[in-house]
Amino acid sequence: MGRVPGAHRLPAGSRTLRVYPPPQTRRAPRPHARRLPAAAHGAAAPAGMALAEVLDSAKASVPSPASGAGRDGCVASLTPPLCPAPPEGRRCGGRQYSRFLWNPVMTISAFEYMLGEADEECSRLLAQCAALQETSIKLLDQLPIQAGWRALDVGCGPRGILDLLSYRVGPTGRVMGLDYQPRMIESAAHWIGERCLPNVDLICASAEACPLPSNSFDMAHARLLLINVPRPENIVREMARLVRPGGWIAIQERDWLSWVCIPPHPAWETLREHLAATWSGNVHIGRSLSDLLRQAGLTDIHVAAHAQVTQPGDLPHDLLLYFAQRARNQLLNSGRLNSQDYDRLVDELRQHLYQPHCLTLDALLVQAWGRVPV
Ligand SMILES: C[S@@+](CC[C@H](N)C(=O)[O-])C[C@H]1O[C@@H](n2cnc3c(N)ncnc32)[C@H](O)[C@@H]1O
Repeated sequence: MGRVPGAHRLPAGSRTLRVYPPPQTRRAPRPHARRLPAAAHGAAAPAGMALAEVLDSAKASVPSPASGAGRDGCVASLTPPLCPAPPEGRRCGGRQYSRFLWNPVMTISAFEYMLGEADEECSRLLAQCAALQETSIKLLDQLPIQAGWRALDVGCGPRGILDLLSYRVGPTGRVMGLDYQPRMIESAAHWIGERCLPNVDLICASAEACPLPSNSFDMAHARLLLINVPRPENIVREMARLVRPGGWIAIQERDWLSWVCIPPHPAWETLREHLAATWSGNVHIGRSLSDLLRQAGLTDIHVAAHAQVTQPGDLPHDLLLYFAQRARNQLLNSGRLNSQDYDRLVDELRQHLYQPHCLTLDALLVQAWGRVPV
């Protein structure tokens, strides 16, 4: 397929904005520029730092979003003050670092991401990216990615695997990150800018109805996206549309099958059960990935699965507690728990998880990949 170097074709009327102005126009970051803590930017969290501590430190260091930076304020919020110059000593040779593609008729999904777009969720995702890095590299090793490829990370959040894809496709390739939450795109722009990844673009759009032309990419990837949506098959079908014949689709999703704490505790069981019942998607989606790929017409389908044991101080150890806290309103509104029961369960679970001997076995991370038929 013919390719314009460095460009994805957008529908007529779309605007392309540069997040980072060229060096001659670049200004020093203004005092209100937002910075996430080091752990939140994917640097390994200090040993022994629990998720709750990382989030607390994120909360303490992140001012509230700039006024008006909601959906309508998205473009304005991506002005240079939020995007500091690359770190000292890293030169990008005056090239354009990253571009943000904005479709004026932004496609908004009918469903909202239940964990929201608050700074603490961005920080959690960035810390989680670092924890999932090795497993994601193993997945990419299975795909025949070549220099010069165009790769898409669907539901990329504040980082996703944009950096991993950027290195794989090299300077002659391009990567696009897509997310429907402006705050996530804003965070991703900041993260990419700090790492000076010149071949990454971002687009704020729904994964269910992406405004990009068919066959735009050689591969598409999604991680921990489908578990959040009620109709995952629509997104997989859309990914298959966006990838050229012979290209690849790779998906990584959890299956709560293996998610237990050791020793068991009734508060864990109860909160996990109520969360699963009120979750916006299917918490056992992992086991359906190969079927979803098959239904979208893919061939050469492969599946792998990973799980790890965590203990107090490891980042995912108190994830159930975090989910319960973020989904408090859903849990109470569902009528499954009243606020007294909720508070008691959260308290009991916290005490149990932070005992030194308490372990958790992660939810299974299922990886599935397959090929769009030629
Ligand atoms: C759990 S996060 C995972 C982020 C990233 N893939 C990673 O692995 O770190 C899910 C992301 O998907 C995005 N998302 C959820 N539903 C979406 C949709 N329908 N279209 C586009 N993005 C969506 C959310 O905004 C959020 O950033």
